[in-house]
Amino acid sequence: SHRIMLGPLVAAVDQGTSSTRFLVFNSKTAELLSHHQVEIKQSFPKEGWVEEDPKEILQSVYECMERTCEKLTQLNIDISNIKAIGVTNQRETTLVWDKETGEPLYNAIVWLDLRTQSTVERLINKTPGRNKNHLKHKTGLPISTYFSAVKLRWLMDNVDEVREAVVSHRAMFGTVDSWLIWCLTGGKSGGVHCTDVTNASRTMLFNIHTLDWDPELCKYFGIPMEILPRVRSSSEIYGLMKSGALSGIPISGCLGDQSAALVGQMCFQDGQAKNTYGTGCFLLRNTGAKPVMSDHGLLTTVAYKLGRDQPACYALEGSVAIAGAVVRWLQDNLGIIESHEELEKLAASVGTSYGCYFVPAFSGLYAPYWEPSARGIICGLTQFTNKRHLAFAALEAVCFQTREILDAMNQDSGIPLTQLQVDGGMTSNRLLMQLQADILCIPVVKPSMPETTALGAAMAAGAAEGVSVWSLSPEDLSEVTSEKFEPQINPEESEFRYARWKKAVQKSMNWET
Ligand code: G3P
Repeated sequence: SHRIMLGPLVAAVDQGTSSTRFLVFNSKTAELLSHHQVEIKQSFPKEGWVEEDPKEILQSVYECMERTCEKLTQLNIDISNIKAIGVTNQRETTLVWDKETGEPLYNAIVWLDLRTQSTVERLINKTPGRNKNHLKHKTGLPISTYFSAVKLRWLMDNVDEVREAVVSHRAMFGTVDSWLIWCLTGGKSGGVHCTDVTNASRTMLFNIHTLDWDPELCKYFGIPMEILPRVRSSSEIYGLMKSGALSGIPISGCLGDQSAALVGQMCFQDGQAKNTYGTGCFLLRNTGAKPVMSDHGLLTTVAYKLGRDQPACYALEGSVAIAGAVVRWLQDNLGIIESHEELEKLAASVGTSYGCYFVPAFSGLYAPYWEPSARGIICGLTQFTNKRHLAFAALEAVCFQTREILDAMNQDSGIPLTQLQVDGGMTSNRLLMQLQADILCIPVVKPSMPETTALGAAMAAGAAEGVSVWSLSPEDLSEVTSEKFEPQINPEESEFRYARWKKAVQKSMNWET
């Protein structure tokens, strides 16, 4: 049946913090035809440090591509139908490599990494009025450990190989998209060194109004501009795949993963929003052609620019550092669960945290607080508390954090969201989705095709090649393919729990003093 329905195919690499995926869609129906996923190792060499191996990341991409192609062949689908490949990625994660050898000069410093905390504090102390928003008028971002510039500065100050490569003009900087596109298009023999406006807008070196690297910002952080990739739109041909089964196919889409999810969820109108539950959790609201500055701790970021001659669209973003990562922590560090499914079962077996609150501020707190010195706490314990309550409190933490950014979003825009569109791995947890609706007091709507991040990147790639993905309007789509969770508890109960959560957050920020 596939062969009859098949139009041109579009594909995407989705390189997230925890795993890499390659997915192939039928452009006629947006149906996911085949995919493959590989987990990525994270290392924690010191307290607060988070690294990944750039070569492992690259290998995982090749492996996912090969295995997906094998699966397609088994399904009798001709891989020569793949017309375009998009790249979408964990944002901010920082790499430097040698353009002559093609070798990475250090591990990738992952966005969650806290090694730059003292640098950030020093930078903020130097600003007039100790203002973390000192660079916000250009970047849309507060000075924080989260963004690439301070990580790159750390690499130049602390890694001899990086410093030497910079001095001898052999260094290339990039976020994960740049590293992958450079490697996939040929690496040291002719690879294309580029990034897109969405990824660039997370470096703190990029002016979100002019849509270009900013010489003043580069000077502020001491970054030589020649090591930066060229900034392109999110949908244009960057180069061709150089090797493997997909050799010759254009790479023609590039978006940070949260932007890609916004596109994949079809949030093209001013005011439309989505929340993605991955390693972290990110709520983005499209603000159209103008960048809106937040008064409530949200970021202003480039949402997408779908073509060289298309206007850029902006978004307000609420970023939560730890969502799915708390599940992995309960699994790997505490050993109280073996899988995400088990967490859901444990939590569901009690249906309450019994007054226990868990603030997983492992990497400080992001939006709306931007407090790098916050640390995780679990409070409200009694003799009665057991791992089931802790499991519930962990899920509730994800929901409370989302509530905080939704509140900030509503205050900034003045027009409250009446429902929340969600996606990402954790949305398969039905208990979490119901809890989220209960804590937000608005319905939560989940598309039946959960791979919206990859779909967004594949759509951007297809668009550059003249392949548009499906013809259904967004209204038709939400009618046909989504599932809705309605709030079930009364708002007073919800407010009571949320107030307690806020108290716990205050403690996580002040526990050192
Ligand atoms: O800003 C970090 C974000 O892009 C990571 O996304 O899906 O890996 O949590 P994810």
